[in-house]
Amino acid sequence: MYVCSCFGVTEAQVRQHAEDGACTPRQIASACKAGTDCGGCVRRIQALLGRGACPRRELIERRPPVLARLDDAA
Ligand code: FES
Repeated sequence: MYVCSCFGVTEAQVRQHAEDGACTPRQIASACKAGTDCGGCVRRIQALLGRGACPRRELIERRPPVLARLDDAA
């Protein structure tokens, strides 16, 4: 299924880029140009990223805030 018809980018390709570390629509655009022409696919890309396509995002969100870790060290 195509996510970006301007550049022929599929949902599977977006997922693969997300797995490779692209966690934002801008990073997806850098990887495959999706979202850089008409912009009509950006919301679909955001939705894909928000549905767990980016494993690193979950890891980042699970970490406690830096200040909390500093408080623990004190
Ligand atoms: S559909 Fe993706 S930039 Fe147009």
